[in-house]
Amino acid sequence: MIRELKILAVVVALTLITYWGVEPYAHSQMHPHVADADYTFSDVDGLNGLKGDATAGQVLVTTNCTACHSIKSEGYPEIMDHASSAAAYGVTPPDLGSAGKLYNADYLAAYIKNPAKASEVSHKFVDGRSHPMPGYAWMQEQEIADMVAYLQSIAPEEMSNKEVYVDACQRCHSIKYADMQKGTMAAFTPDENIKAYMGKLPPDLSQHIKSRGHAYLETFINQPQKHLEGTAMPKVGLTKDSQDQVIAYLEEVGDSSKAKREELGPKFLIYLAIFAVFAFLWKSSKWRDVH
Ligand code: HEC
Ligand code: HEC
Repeated sequence: MIRELKILAVVVALTLITYWGVEPYAHSQMHPHVADADYTFSDVDGLNGLKGDATAGQVLVTTNCTACHSIKSEGYPEIMDHASSAAAYGVTPPDLGSAGKLYNADYLAAYIKNPAKASEVSHKFVDGRSHPMPGYAWMQEQEIADMVAYLQSIAPEEMSNKEVYVDACQRCHSIKYADMQKGTMAAFTPDENIKAYMGKLPPDLSQHIKSRGHAYLETFINQPQKHLEGTAMPKVGLTKDSQDQVIAYLEEVGDSSKAKREELGPKFLIYLAIFAVFAFLWKSSKWRDVH
């Protein structure tokens, strides 16, 4: 009896070591660790501690930004359809109604001042090419802070995971599995435009939660250069909460059976435990006659 328990303990220990020790170790060797994104964005030239005035910011945003960007929630519709804005800028500019929530405030300020630098794609805009959004570094720092304050004041408090994805990623990426029939989850920018602008077609993200995994996405979205040096994908500048929502959306679309799987796991373990008890009792009864 004691001997059998000892054998059982050894088997259990070996199984646990394989499961929790070897597999994650192999994983970490195959996918070297990339440090987590810095959600304080302390390295960007952002607000520099200034507090903005939303009323002053409203005037600045509605005179400078709505020529390209819609702010539908405030009554500024898209001026051009997606095909025309893509033809004009290379990519359809995102609606700014949620920018104050999606993006970290310092990142947002840095992006308004210098979009290519803040999103770490300066390497693409050389030899006379310039970023389609003009930088506003010529404005006073206080005016930049005012615009950020205005964008924050109009942003919704709650957004669904899908809404965050739409405003942050859909101008470039399709996620067709989300809505195969109606095709509403195709990228806003037509393929040929975004391909010309980015140098390659951004991949459809329907399956990336499976092919790349949670941890990879978590470090990729806010620092793509660390994973793919020289990549065309801009740093997006999301807050931790918004990034979690985007990843949750990719999970809803690409791995809808996850919840079911997680529910099944414990049930299967209970089944195994009960089965083990019966197997043990059966074995004891057989051997009793032999001894
Ligand atoms: C001439 C057109 C134009 C004007 C004017 C313009 N933008 Fe943009 N903006 C763009 C385009 C195009 C993009 C998408 C660029 C990309 O994804 O590479 C963009 C992207 C953005 C983003 C997304 C940032 C991110 O990390 O994804 C924000 C926020 C933004 N603009 C804010 C503003 C604000 C605020 C103003 C006014 C101060 C403004 N823009 C003025 C064209 C413009
Ligand atoms: C301005 C366009 C643009 C925006 C906005 C954008 N991406 Fe990308 N993304 C790209 C491009 C281009 C690539 C291809 C990069 C490459 O292969 O070098 C890419 C690649 C990716 C990849 C694949 C990385 C890999 O390992 O192959 C993922 C995942 C991704 N993007 C997620 C996102 C998410 C999530 C968002 C929104 C939060 C987003 N992207 C916003 C342009 C964009």
